[in-house]
Parts: sequence; structure tokens; C-alpha cells
Amino acid sequence: MADWSEIEALPSPKLLDLFAEDDGRLDRFSLDVAGIHFDWSKTHLTADAVAAFERLAKASDLAGKREAMFGGEHVNVTEDRPVEHTAERGEGNAESVARSRRYHERTRALVDAIEAEALGPIEYVLHVGIGGSALGPHLLVDALGREDSRYEVAIVSNVDGMALEDVFKRFDAKTTLLVVASKTFTTTETMLNAESVIQWMTENGVEDPYGRVVALTASPEKANEWGVDDTRVLPFSEGVGGRYSLWSSIGFPAALALGWAAFEELLEGAAEMDRHFRLTALHENAPALAAFADLYYTQVRHAETRAPFAYDERLRLLPSYLQQLEMESNGKGVTVDGKPVGRPTAAITWGGVGTDAQHAVFQLLHQGTHLVPVEFLAVIEPGDTLPEEHHRQLLLNAFAQGAALMKGKQVDDPARSYAGDRPSSTILLDTLEPRTLGALIAFYEHRVFVNGVLLGINSFDQFGVELGKEMAKAAAKGGGEFDPSTTDLIKRAGLD
Ligand code: F6P
Repeated sequence: MADWSEIEALPSPKLLDLFAEDDGRLDRFSLDVAGIHFDWSKTHLTADAVAAFERLAKASDLAGKREAMFGGEHVNVTEDRPVEHTAERGEGNAESVARSRRYHERTRALVDAIEAEALGPIEYVLHVGIGGSALGPHLLVDALGREDSRYEVAIVSNVDGMALEDVFKRFDAKTTLLVVASKTFTTTETMLNAESVIQWMTENGVEDPYGRVVALTASPEKANEWGVDDTRVLPFSEGVGGRYSLWSSIGFPAALALGWAAFEELLEGAAEMDRHFRLTALHENAPALAAFADLYYTQVRHAETRAPFAYDERLRLLPSYLQQLEMESNGKGVTVDGKPVGRPTAAITWGGVGTDAQHAVFQLLHQGTHLVPVEFLAVIEPGDTLPEEHHRQLLLNAFAQGAALMKGKQVDDPARSYAGDRPSSTILLDTLEPRTLGALIAFYEHRVFVNGVLLGINSFDQFGVELGKEMAKAAAKGGGEFDPSTTDLIKRAGLD
């Protein structure tokens, strides 16, 4: 196992001192990749810290593991699978890339067919899925489909029937396409939601509701069994993890709403970030530097959380997308060899939207007792057409918050003082378009990967979600052995 003693002994300098001591700091800790500007100068990273992390990365064989991932080796050891999401954007081993191209061709053909009204007139797209089968497509459609969406798209994940009923009130069953997204095609919430949509279609005069279903899945035979004709099943590989799957057929609603050309640009933007990650030295490598900062705060400064704030309505779903990506990937307690990891793993990801969050949770960030590395995300080109004062205020607020967190303020009254020296990073996109969003999401994926490799964990399994599912399934069948508290709750709700 890699030796962390050098990292743990890293000093805790003051941010303002770091700027005062090094007038090249901003240059050293900011870089531009794929239309995105990254600035880590307001974190506590130093050249020495980066060098120490580079040594740790070498001892952890980051370069070898990165090549193993891109090369299609079974780096997801607990599930004995390759990790193939980069192949979806053309970066990976030849066989995976070729297969993913074939699958994309199939998706593209169905997008064209639906546009040509092969399934009859479609106005509404109702996508049911959960977790990685919903968060990614939802983010894409919400971020990029505000102006020119070709269809009205709803993404429903919750098994709470109110979520579907809201959509039923707005959509016309006769012109609705049902998209069932599930890698396994067994997820209880998704299958129940899909059945309820079929029932709603039937009750509202759709003669052949199954003829208006598209399935996105790595288990095509299960989709066939459920009633979807093979021509409308869009497969993807088992090696594409759920939370990494928006590049595969799971991105279908985005490809439909935005058009295939836009979807391809998304893939190209991600591929540009893949190449940057694969080919750039670690001290200039955006995902690696971000991961080094993450690890500095979790391992040296014992930060338990990290908080991305999107200063752009179009990115409002990004924090919840990142929650799954980061916490499901790296919220692990054992190493790849099954040994206790012995150190904190993923920080708890939380966050929100600026400037709203400033008026709700920033109090704690400025004066609370927790150290929370903050990440500001903003886009230079506005998404709105209102007077430019809106966007000016939005961006200036993001930048001022970062400055205030770092600078602090000392006055005689302790209640009105700010300790300062609180870290933040800033990610500034020139424009929000498919290409830059693709690059941004790929940046986060590789950052998670670097964190995982240095911690010695497998970022690609998620066994922690199984136990609760099993117990809920047992309870639904009237079985299961429960503690007195849970037994009482089941009884009180009349579910026994
Ligand atoms: O329960 C967690 C999980 O397995 C996620 O990893 C996954 O994204 C989600 O459920 C949905 O799974 P599926 O796509 O198989 O329905």
C-alpha cells in the first residue's frame, strides 16, 4: 500500500501568505482545458504538496491503472469487468470503441426514425429511470435543452406516484414516448413506474402502448421479456457503470431533445478531456490537480464534506449528479484487496445553486466550525436574454464569495469576525454547450478515478446499495426479520 506519511505531514499554510510569497501562484494553479478555466489558487495546494502527491501517484501506479482502464482491463475487480465509459466517446480499447460505435449507430437510427414519425407523432418524452439511469440524462436535458428542445421531456425517478401524476397532468398519452432506462432492467422503482405509464397510456386510448416504448439497457433480453420489441431496445455494455452511463444509450432523451449532432459534440468534449487526462503531466492535469486538492482536504485537514455551487441555473442539477458520481464511486471502506482502507474515503458531496445558497447555507461556510472546500462553477456567456446586470451580479457574487472565504475579516466583535483562510476552487466555462458540458463531466469522472486509485479503492462497484434494497424487497413480500422499531413502523403505516 502506498505510503501516506509524506502527505499527512504536509503543512497548513495560510492562503493569503501563499499568494504573498509567490507571484506566480495564479499561473501555477490555474489552467485551461477544452474551453474550461480551472483555478485552484485559492486552495492550500503548493508546489511541494503537488510534488508529494505526484510521488504518491507513482507509488500507487496511477499511470499504469489509468492505462489499464483505457485499455479495457478488468479494473473493476470485484465485478470482474472492464470500465468502458471512455470507449463511449471513442477513447478506449479498439474492441470496446467499435462496440460502442455500433450501439451509437443504433441509437442514432432510432432518433432519426422517431423524428420521421415512424412511431407516430411524438410530442412528449417520458423517461423513467433512477440513479445513474436518470441523473445524467436529466442534467443534460435541463442544462442544454432549455431553448431548442425538440420534445417536451420529463425524467421521473421517484417511486412516489406523485412524481408520475404530475407528468400525467401535463402530457398527452397519445403523443407520449415512454423511455425505460435501466442497466439491469430489474430496478423496482423503474419497473413499477414503467408499468404505471403503460397503464396510463392504455387508459387514455393508446392502442399499442408497448409499441411506443424505448428501452435503454445492458440487459436487452430482459427488456424483450418485459414487452419491448428488439427494434426499440438500445443496448449498452455491462462495463459502462450506471453513474458513468450518460454517454451510452442512457443519454437517448438528450440525443432526442437536442439532436444527434449535439450529442456527438458532448461525446467529443468528453474525449478531449480524456486525452488531456491521459497525456498530460500530473502537475498540469486538471482531474489530477482537483483530486490532489480533494485528498489534501480529506487526509490532511480532515474535511468531511465538499460543496460545489453552480452559479448558473442551467447547471442546477450538477450538485446532485456529482453526489452520485462521487459518493457512490468512492464511498467505500475497503481497498481493492478487501482490506480496511484505514483512512477517510470520499468526502460527503453536497452543494447547491448560487446565489440562492448564499442566503441559506453560506453562513456555515464563512463562520461555522467545519472546514468545507467550496467549488464555484460559472459560465461567462449568459444563458438568459435579460439585462446584463443579472449575469453580472451572478458572476460577481461567485467571485466575491471565493474572495471573502479566503480573506476573512477581523473586527473587535467576535460574532462579526470571519476567520478567513477558507478554501475554494473555481471552474469557469466560456460557454455552456454540449462540448464544454461533456468535458466538464468527464473531468469529474477522472477526478473520482484519481481519488480512488490513490486511496487504493475500487471506484466502480456499489455493493453498499444492495442490503437496503434486499430488505425492502423482503418487506414488500410480507417477509423479512426486522428489529422492533422497524416492525412497529411497518405496522403503523398499515403495511404488515
Ligand atoms: O441502487 C443503485 C443503483 O444500482 C445505481 O448504481 C444505478 O445507477 C441505479 O441503481 C439504477 O440501476 P439500473 O440502471 O439498473 O436501474
